[in-house]
Amino acid sequence: MNDVLYVNGGTPLHGEITVRGAKNFVSKAMVAALLGEGPSVLRNVPQIRDVGVVTGLLELHGVSVTHDEAAGVLTLDPSNVESAHVADIDAHAGSSRIPILFCGPLLHRLGEAFIPDLGGCRIGDRPINYHLDILRQFGAVVEKRAQGIELRAPNGLHGTKIELPYPSVGATEQLLLTAVRADGLTELSNAAIEPEIMDLINVLQKMGAIISVDTDRVIRIEGVGRLGGYQHTALSDRIEAASWASAALATRGDVYVRGATQPEMTAFLNTFRKVGGEFEIDDDGIRFFHPGGDLRSIVLETDVHPGFMTDWQQPLVVALTQATGLSIVHETVYENRFGFTDALRGMGATIQVYRECLGGHPCRFGQRNFYHSAVISGPTPLAAADIEVPDLRGGFSHLIAALAAKGTSAVRGIQLIDRGYEHFQDKLGALGAEFSHG
Ligand code: EPU
Repeated sequence: MNDVLYVNGGTPLHGEITVRGAKNFVSKAMVAALLGEGPSVLRNVPQIRDVGVVTGLLELHGVSVTHDEAAGVLTLDPSNVESAHVADIDAHAGSSRIPILFCGPLLHRLGEAFIPDLGGCRIGDRPINYHLDILRQFGAVVEKRAQGIELRAPNGLHGTKIELPYPSVGATEQLLLTAVRADGLTELSNAAIEPEIMDLINVLQKMGAIISVDTDRVIRIEGVGRLGGYQHTALSDRIEAASWASAALATRGDVYVRGATQPEMTAFLNTFRKVGGEFEIDDDGIRFFHPGGDLRSIVLETDVHPGFMTDWQQPLVVALTQATGLSIVHETVYENRFGFTDALRGMGATIQVYRECLGGHPCRFGQRNFYHSAVISGPTPLAAADIEVPDLRGGFSHLIAALAAKGTSAVRGIQLIDRGYEHFQDKLGALGAEFSHG
């Protein structure tokens, strides 16, 4: 498959696209199906590569999966869960980090689990220490092997009291997927409370779990002996919606994102408005548009929910290159999420990255030599360039930059974008973008 897109930029994006279920929820809901004794049905599932990867991983473990791709419906039957061969898991997982979330469910179902060394986007070290600490606290025996990590639960898994050092999304999901069927009570403090996690809690409750969420990032779970299947419609992808919104802003365009929802995007919408973008919300989606005139520079800090998501940062930074004045962006979730700005600089953007915490609050990356703050000076016209996609969100940002730039850019490595953006080339076409494969 041709992995290069030649983008002839400079044309505002205009039109309508649809976003379906959130990548970062759908994959977890698929794993949750492993815990049920009966089949589960998940709706609003996008056709993205990550769904294919998790489908393959589930099938390796004996789950029967049928996917009506056009309708977006997945049926997952975990009646015959079995161990998979390490080499197969490894070969299949590719760059996905999802296998780590199989641990709790597999320990419950089979008493053992094996996970290969994990990939994921290159946006920092992305350790799994919180995950392994959690599993150990439930009573799992965790041993490092040459090809990955082996886990056993010789005496079953038992509820426990845990405080996370940082409200990690994955670690909170790990705890939920393990605690729901562990023996007794579990309490998690400093939990992540992202909407995708709340929707996972909805799914687990449908399956028979008992979970309460307090206002102060405390989640309590009462373990139950058995769980059934679920029927659920996934919440929509607020990262994809914000990515198209940023593309509309950077290209001075006007894009209606069908499926975008307001409650999960409050922080993004506030920022979009402060930059000078406008939006109109209706029952079916959100129209994002550039109203003409100049965009305004801003000071922005990424944070866990309900703050401004780290995944919104990269696409928005491209739009900030077109704002008048100095914008400051402090990335507090990942230590290394400004690598994508190298390519923007090569296209004419003025962006400097700093080791210091330039936002209002010092973060855990201060004094540790991570370039995690950026100052963007604009507006600067962008010029076409030959660019390589570095990671999923950084890659979409490069695409936005190419769409905003005058001339024809070559964007290489676009397969990475298929991991999380459904039919993005069709959507670009629908919005009037000019591009070809050579
Ligand atoms: N962390 C640790 N130890 C751990 C786990 C996390 O130090 O064991 C640190 C990470 O290094 C990071 C911070 O905690 O600095 C937050 O990481 P988190 O665990 O919250 O992230 P994640 O669960 O690995 C998910 C999404 C990411 C998204 C983050 C934050 C999925 C599959 N991935 O990752 O999405 O950026 O939460 O919201 O749900 C993407 O979609 O492109 C993407 C990277």
